[in-house]
Amino acid sequence: MKIAVAGTGYVGLVTGVCLASKGHDVTCVDIDKDKVEIMQKGVSPIYEPGLSELMTESLAHLTFTTDYQGAYRDAEVIFIGVGTPEKQDGSANLSYVYKVAKQIAESVERDCVVVVKSTVPIGTNDKIEAYIHDKQKNDVKIYVASNPEFLSQGTAVKDTLHASRIVIGVEDKVPGEILKNVYDGFEAPKLVVKRRSAEMIKYASNDFLALKISYVNEIANLCEIVGADIEEVTDGMGYDARIGNKFLSSGIGYGGSCFPKDTKALNWLANFNDNEIRTIRAAIEVNENQKFKLIKKAKKYYDDFLFLNVAVLGCTFKPGTDDLREAASLVNVPLLMEDGAHVRVWDPVGMENFKKHFPEKIQYCKTIEEAITGADLCLILTEWDEVKQFDVQKYEELMNKAIVLDGRNCYTLDQMKNTKVIYDSIGRSAVNQD
Ligand code: UGA
Repeated sequence: MKIAVAGTGYVGLVTGVCLASKGHDVTCVDIDKDKVEIMQKGVSPIYEPGLSELMTESLAHLTFTTDYQGAYRDAEVIFIGVGTPEKQDGSANLSYVYKVAKQIAESVERDCVVVVKSTVPIGTNDKIEAYIHDKQKNDVKIYVASNPEFLSQGTAVKDTLHASRIVIGVEDKVPGEILKNVYDGFEAPKLVVKRRSAEMIKYASNDFLALKISYVNEIANLCEIVGADIEEVTDGMGYDARIGNKFLSSGIGYGGSCFPKDTKALNWLANFNDNEIRTIRAAIEVNENQKFKLIKKAKKYYDDFLFLNVAVLGCTFKPGTDDLREAASLVNVPLLMEDGAHVRVWDPVGMENFKKHFPEKIQYCKTIEEAITGADLCLILTEWDEVKQFDVQKYEELMNKAIVLDGRNCYTLDQMKNTKVIYDSIGRSAVNQD
């Protein structure tokens, strides 16, 4: 089929490349000329495992362009995958989605289905459809469908090619059938539902996962107080199939471009409708506090951070991505610096982006060893494999004062008991404290 994709961020680009890999002819549209030029050469502008390879393999079916008119004019299906960033009040900013909707309305010359992949508040697709119908130049039939994505950064290609489910939200039979054809080559349950239900499935799923993390973080905090071990607790919980053993890792809170934004957006939507979604509000609050967890722990060991050498391992919001959005590092590093600490950061892929936030004053290190040598304190913020596989004896050997505060529970307590390192993690007793 002839498909156009608006936006080449994570969602748009991964969707476009995966559809092309199944034989569809896909034109990806972006306003950024430089980015388009890079992609035309078969290079992915984002770090995402497997994406560059799939892009190269599928280049025969892929076109990248800034010419939206040419792309939309005769497309049978047009995906919208542009961002819906958070506004000051927590609601979703839909201006990019509407801008694309207007371009589509003014360009299409044949019947087509406009598929909204961007995460949008419930009811938005109805409005987009009315907006497009109002603005359309040619007398053609334009359907609007909701098709939320469930991909995670770092596993985006795998999550798209082997999706847990494909949700198709439509108000008519025709676009439902067309979208089932688009996804014919994808082995996944295909759920055709009401458009508003599709929009809600996306928020309800993401917010449930965020809630699960905040819940487990609160249980972890209580474990520390009452002397239980969160790893043992979540292991025990996970055997119950109704709970499941995934997304039970406690830590310094969730980050990324989705959970923080989508929890706030649903909370905003509820308030806007004179309603309350108290569980989600609580999840947001718990998460905001959790990000200070290691700084609070550090105060047990140092009254202040003036002139301390502090190593920060990991600055991305999770491993497998160079994305820093809502990462704990963005909260912790400024607090350390404000207090006069000398901060050294190590991250295998995120440092270039981090430099954009903090161009000066931070020492960027090529290795974990470099970051921890002579350090008075080490904070682990991202559970990169390099950190998990690091020889823990080296903390003892290389640090000035071997205090490791682990916000991602990268090591077992037994491992750390074999060293003299003061090791304080989340939801577990501190090791070697005296
Ligand atoms: C999330 C969802 O997992 C995807 O299903 C969804 O499609 C996506 O948002 C989206 O809406 O686009 P993503 O933000 O890429 O994906 O990352 P996750 O792997 O979900 O991690 C989010 C945050 O939660 C990270 O900071 C991670 O460290 C944290 N997390 C995750 C925990 O603290 N504990 C866990 O057990 C799992």
